[in-house]
Amino acid sequence: MLFDERPKERREDLYDREKEIEELKRSIGRPLILLTGIRRIGKTSVLRVALSELDIPYVLIDARSLRRNYSRSDLFRLIAQGLSGSLDKIKDLLMGIRGLRVMGVEVEVSWRGSDSLSLVELFDRLNKKKIVIAIDEAQRLRGPRSSELKDAIAHAYDYDKNISFILTGSEVGLLYDFIGIEDSRSPLYGRYYVEVKLERLSREQSIDFLRKGFAQLNLRVSEEVLEVAYEHFDGIPGWLTFFGNAYARGEADIEKIKSIAVRTALEELRNMTRDNPRRYGLVLRAIAEGRKTWSQVKEYLEEKEGTTISSSVLSNILRSLEDMSIIKNYEFLDPIYREACKLLQ
Ligand SMILES: Nc1ncnc2c1ncn2[C@@H]1O[C@H](COP(=O)(O)OP(=O)(O)OP(=O)(O)O)[C@@H](O)[C@H]1O
Ligand SMILES: [Mg+2]
Repeated sequence: MLFDERPKERREDLYDREKEIEELKRSIGRPLILLTGIRRIGKTSVLRVALSELDIPYVLIDARSLRRNYSRSDLFRLIAQGLSGSLDKIKDLLMGIRGLRVMGVEVEVSWRGSDSLSLVELFDRLNKKKIVIAIDEAQRLRGPRSSELKDAIAHAYDYDKNISFILTGSEVGLLYDFIGIEDSRSPLYGRYYVEVKLERLSREQSIDFLRKGFAQLNLRVSEEVLEVAYEHFDGIPGWLTFFGNAYARGEADIEKIKSIAVRTALEELRNMTRDNPRRYGLVLRAIAEGRKTWSQVKEYLEEKEGTTISSSVLSNILRSLEDMSIIKNYEFLDPIYREACKLLQ
């Protein structure tokens, strides 16, 4: 079903993305592949569909739920989950690794003391076969605990020729930051990677996607409604899916559907900017209301705060917002986020 709200796993449920899936599959064998794109663009879906069509095993680690300042045990739990998910295909590779036990259909790992699992050893073992290690929302792995995993990935990059890593991230700047390709102190500094970028659907594709999704539900929806939905949701498949579901459930008021989407985005924004909600909020509102240059945003901020704002403070905030893929060059990457920012206090 095209309108299924979960990430898709089968190609028949996915609209288009043929080219990107082929690109991903073609790149398997390279050490490092990044799959990037804004929130709700379909990264997890494209990743899962591509993985499901491979004829080699894969391990999928979902870092989405990782909290900030995660602990070593959080990380190792995530890895154990990922390994457990593919156990039937990789069981033989996991036998006899220090700190790792296969218990029925699950993998247990130790993270403490001399009996602890070594990620380098784990990767060296997985390397016995051609394999993909995919990490969804890998930018979540940033933080004080990231160096152990990064070192292990850098080791695998150099020595484990059978392993391909695929990392996805919606906060693209933070993902680059995590792998540290441009940071001379990072173990992955200067390494080559392939990047597959997911862009939004075109106007024609968006309308076609909606039409086909409604047809699967035996619903005929006027072209006008489809056009308006495209105008609001701008070719972002996650929002189009959201719209399709709400409309199919009987909510005929598109503005109302949009306002629910905006509220969802507002929650996400609050969560993302909780370090300094007031300043982030003001900058986002300035841009949402049409300020398009550095000096216009600065003036807005100073006017609202009643103080002068140092250039470095403003440039840090703008850089963070770009790193989180909320804005680029004083434009929002998602129109629903722009609407949400108008509601920020
Ligand atoms: N090409 C597509 N065809 C059909 N549905 C899609 C497509 N791309 C995404 N979707 C739907 O959009 C929603 C978001 O997709 P998905 O979770 O794969 O995106 P994502 O980029 O991983 O999002 P997030 O940034 O939230 O992790 C899901 O409901 C998914 O089913
Ligand atoms: Mg995702």
